[in-house]
Amino acid sequence: MANNTLTVTDNRTGKSYEIPIFQAANPIYGAAIRAPDLRQIKTSEDDFGLMSYDPAFMNTASCQSRITFVDGEKGILRYRGYPIEELAEKSTYLETAYLILYGELPTEVRLKEWVQKITFHTMIHENIKKFMDGFHHDAHPMGMLVSTVAALSTFYTDGKNIFDPQSQKMQTYRLIGKMPTLAAFAYRHSRGLPYAYPDNDLSYPGNLLNMLFKMTEVKYRPNPILERALDVLFILHADHEQNCGTNAMRSVGSSHVDSYSAVAAAAAALYGPLHGGANEEVLRMLTEIGSKDGVPGFIKKVKAGEGRLMGFGHRVYKNYDPRAKIIKQVADQVFEVTGRNPLLDIGLEVERIALEDDYFIKRKLYPNVDFYSGIIYQAMGFPLEMFPVLFAIPRTSGWVAQWLEMLGDPEQKIARPRQLYLGSEERHYVTMSERKAA
Ligand code: CMC
Repeated sequence: MANNTLTVTDNRTGKSYEIPIFQAANPIYGAAIRAPDLRQIKTSEDDFGLMSYDPAFMNTASCQSRITFVDGEKGILRYRGYPIEELAEKSTYLETAYLILYGELPTEVRLKEWVQKITFHTMIHENIKKFMDGFHHDAHPMGMLVSTVAALSTFYTDGKNIFDPQSQKMQTYRLIGKMPTLAAFAYRHSRGLPYAYPDNDLSYPGNLLNMLFKMTEVKYRPNPILERALDVLFILHADHEQNCGTNAMRSVGSSHVDSYSAVAAAAAALYGPLHGGANEEVLRMLTEIGSKDGVPGFIKKVKAGEGRLMGFGHRVYKNYDPRAKIIKQVADQVFEVTGRNPLLDIGLEVERIALEDDYFIKRKLYPNVDFYSGIIYQAMGFPLEMFPVLFAIPRTSGWVAQWLEMLGDPEQKIARPRQLYLGSEERHYVTMSERKAA
């Protein structure tokens, strides 16, 4: 018997089956059995066969990937093998995006060309402004972003050629280039401000700050510390393997729809308060707590089941979120420029009390990436509604990389989960006069 197999005995029949184990090169990356191998396990000829049941993908690998590695127990995050701490210290967002997309750090020439391509695709068609104008003045910018990125598919119809390498390149440039412009235009619309166009002299984060905050000055000059802080935050948010938004990207993309529509789906998933919407909720929560004295009472309510501590807990990280650690350092640099955000003290008190509390210790609940990012964003002058948008912009490179990987994977097909049917047995149509009230 081969030693890389699993022997399963079905106690209903007494029959044994040998199932191959699919092993990653290094055991820390895990091993799996293929769920279709379970289908041979049956109690009779007309038995459908055994399936695995895993409602929230708690222990199901939906793909093979070479992009991002997360070890939740050890608090490790690596893009293409590079630790997040090194990238946050030494790289830029656009360089990291290249790494995530193409697998290697770019040479100097490649990086220059890449930055130039992204920079020259930041403009959006003037008709997109008409979409923006149609939204209410108080429309949520994330709703506007989700809708307008979907609308891009109607402008770039070559995006339908999803397997054409030239088209893949163009849509990659366009998506990464245009997301900040859509985001900034959504913000300017909600403020009733005229749209500020991209400035090709500025860096990726510097240009976003320009499009958001430029007023009457002829040339906007971003504060270099805030520009770098935003770049680091973008590096931290660029990819996070198979989370809810990325799973949406792959699942919707598996129908072979264009990448704009798939990114819209991924961004919609990110919008939810349990995912990228959490940073916005953290700020609302800290504002509601109001002062350090309010923290114990709030935590008591959370423990009693009245809501969650937003920015705490993670499906994968059960020790600490390495991104939260880096963000705390970025916060210090930002506050030197902007002054300290008073909500930080409430946040630190929440963290201190929660980390000493049995409820949170037992459940392995630690601050996640969203706990401190919102405090920084607020200090930098972003309104709460922009926080999930600031998550979606850098995550676009991760979504596109995962989408391209999925398209190139011969094992991938249209995503179509099974179900365990628990409904009625066959029954026959009842005419209206014979129906009884339920
Ligand atoms: N506050 C209080 N209790 C919590 C929290 C929290 N933030 N998170 C989990 N729990 C409890 C939960 O009630 C459950 O307790 P019990 O076993 O008694 O029923 C236990 O911990 C396990 O929770 P779960 O919902 O099964 O865990 P999950 O892995 O499905 O959820 C999570 C992960 C991130 C959705 C969840 O921790 C959460 O809702 N956190 C708050 C929202 C948040 O900060 N989201 C941002 C995630 S990081 C950025 C991103 O990836 O988008």
